[in-house]
Amino acid sequence: MRKALIAGNWKMNGLTKDGESLAKEVAQFYSQNQSEKASMLVCPPFTLLSKVLDAVKGSGVSVGAQDCHTNESGAYTGDISAKMLKDLGCDYVILGHSERRTYHKESNELICAKAEAAIKEGLKAVICIGETEAERDAGKTINVCEEQFKKSVPAVSNGENTVIAYEPVWAIGTGKTPTNADVEEVHAAIRKFAVEKMGAEADKLQLLYGGSVKPSNAKELLSIANVDGALVGGASLKADDFIAIAKSRL
Ligand code: PGA
Repeated sequence: MRKALIAGNWKMNGLTKDGESLAKEVAQFYSQNQSEKASMLVCPPFTLLSKVLDAVKGSGVSVGAQDCHTNESGAYTGDISAKMLKDLGCDYVILGHSERRTYHKESNELICAKAEAAIKEGLKAVICIGETEAERDAGKTINVCEEQFKKSVPAVSNGENTVIAYEPVWAIGTGKTPTNADVEEVHAAIRKFAVEKMGAEADKLQLLYGGSVKPSNAKELLSIANVDGALVGGASLKADDFIAIAKSRL
């Protein structure tokens, strides 16, 4: 069985004091509950990365950012490179989240270039894909996920340097989740696309589900075939909830 990854996406939330104490609580829990069954990852905003890295040191909890630039350095005001994240001590970076696809008009091609840059620096790329409600209603879910997967996942991706998060856009922050059968169908399809892309490596690839994961539905979602963890937004901002989600897979 693949090791699960329980990842928290803090989005644009958290000031120094709260962020630090949230990270410390997660770190304290995981340092006492480290397991081969699941690892834990927190992805705070850039401003908190350094503090959070200090707070989780030695606990086994990994730290990731929520975006990076395609280039190493240069005249890109306001941007942060994968090299800078690696230099700081990050292990992961979330790329292609639907909020970046929507608000920053990020294309599959840009996400692919960012993922390639991240992987080349030794970061693990958590690449997000998922359909909108209109696309689901039109029966296009699998096609949309296939296109996003094929175009957003770079050729350098393998089962160890890449994680895929399936996040139906309509399930993010809404309290709505797909049925277990729907999640199972999409994750099985993504596994198939991964086999086509990376052959036997696809077996190691962690496929996370994301979108309104909370303590009350985590156990069920995390027991679906081909669901190897969760990308948690809102519920990752409360230590008790995030820990409860992790416990359901530990
Ligand atoms: P949510 O967000 O858990 O608040 O729905 C998930 C995500 O956007 O990664």
